[in-house]
Amino acid sequence: MFSNELINKFQPLETPFYYYDLSLLKSTLEACKTASAKYNFHVHYALKANFDARVLETIRSFNIGADCVSGGEVKRAIETGFSNKAVVFAGVGKSDAEINYALDQDIFCFNVESIQELEVINGLAAAKGKTAKVALRINPNVNAYTHKYITTGLEENKFGINQWEFDKVVAALKKLPNIQCLGLHFHIGSQITDLNVFKSLCIKVNEIVTWFREHHVEINVINVGGGLGVDYYHPDTKSIIDFETYFKIFDSFLERSAIQEVHFELGRALVANCGSLISRVLYVKNGQVTNFAILDAGMTELMRPALYQAYHKIENISKANSEKTKNYDVVGPICESTDCFAKAVELPETHRGDLIAIRTAGAYGEVMASNYNLRDKVKAVYGE
Ligand code: LLP
Repeated sequence: MFSNELINKFQPLETPFYYYDLSLLKSTLEACKTASAKYNFHVHYALKANFDARVLETIRSFNIGADCVSGGEVKRAIETGFSNKAVVFAGVGKSDAEINYALDQDIFCFNVESIQELEVINGLAAAKGKTAKVALRINPNVNAYTHKYITTGLEENKFGINQWEFDKVVAALKKLPNIQCLGLHFHIGSQITDLNVFKSLCIKVNEIVTWFREHHVEINVINVGGGLGVDYYHPDTKSIIDFETYFKIFDSFLERSAIQEVHFELGRALVANCGSLISRVLYVKNGQVTNFAILDAGMTELMRPALYQAYHKIENISKANSEKTKNYDVVGPICESTDCFAKAVELPETHRGDLIAIRTAGAYGEVMASNYNLRDKVKAVYGE
């Protein structure tokens, strides 16, 4: 919810911009920290969700680790002050330069996605006289029941090592002296809103850990990835699954007796709610079939609706108390028909100059912006 004071503050600003409510971010981080500490769980923040400098600095101040998927993210995490000992690095296509950089930074762990990658890391570590700590990213073939574009844990997805390769991995580990295997890594998808999915993941993880132990591979660390979803339909209410409930599932269903550390990589659940894309209505086109509200923000600032048909709640914050409503297709200025935030949205009667808030945009919003059509870089504004 935007107070009148905040809307007045927005009024003279150039749009579009991302608005980040840092106090909401802090209370979300606090809730996550408290709930995870109860079980001694280690949380890493998935930088890919949002790497805005002030957002990152706020997250770092909570002593959370970093989950990175590129050399650039490892560098950003280290430069922001995340401890190198709490950096994990995943990704199916790590380049030699990225691996070397992460080796030089002595990061906590590489989440390794294939046998070939294990061999390359071993070679690069040997050249530096180092031992690389790794977790094997396993593709557990567990359905996350989320959008197919953000499902990662099925055999048809490119991520991780499949079960039919396990014997080969065990044999490879024996021949790679510059690799220290800490344990296993899993990440089955994003925007997961069904607790049973996490329960199924735990059961599968237990089976796989048992298999590796039986094959004399020591498993001390389990990283269960991220994926906790948020409620895009109700941006002002708490999440669908709160942190307490989420972590409790893993405490209840993961076989933890012989495991020293359990790690998580949360992105969306930490930052989605604190961000909104604020934009202005440039033109209203009233048609015979459809009314269009044409914004100064488009898919170049928030790509999720065009890419995944994702829903984001749209509000006309200039006319919050108006009673007369109309349906609008809310679209951007980009020369693409998919540049549409939502169709037939019921809004107060809307005019040129009205401020529009597109909610729950703190995760995978600004980071996925592009300068297609030679658009300016989107700005950010902060609330304390
Ligand atoms: N760990 C790994 C290995 C990942 O690939 C991801 C996200 C995460 C953790 C964090 O997942 P989260 O807690 O945020 O669900 N652009 C898409 C989402 C892509 C997610 C990619 N991986 C979207 O806008 O929905």
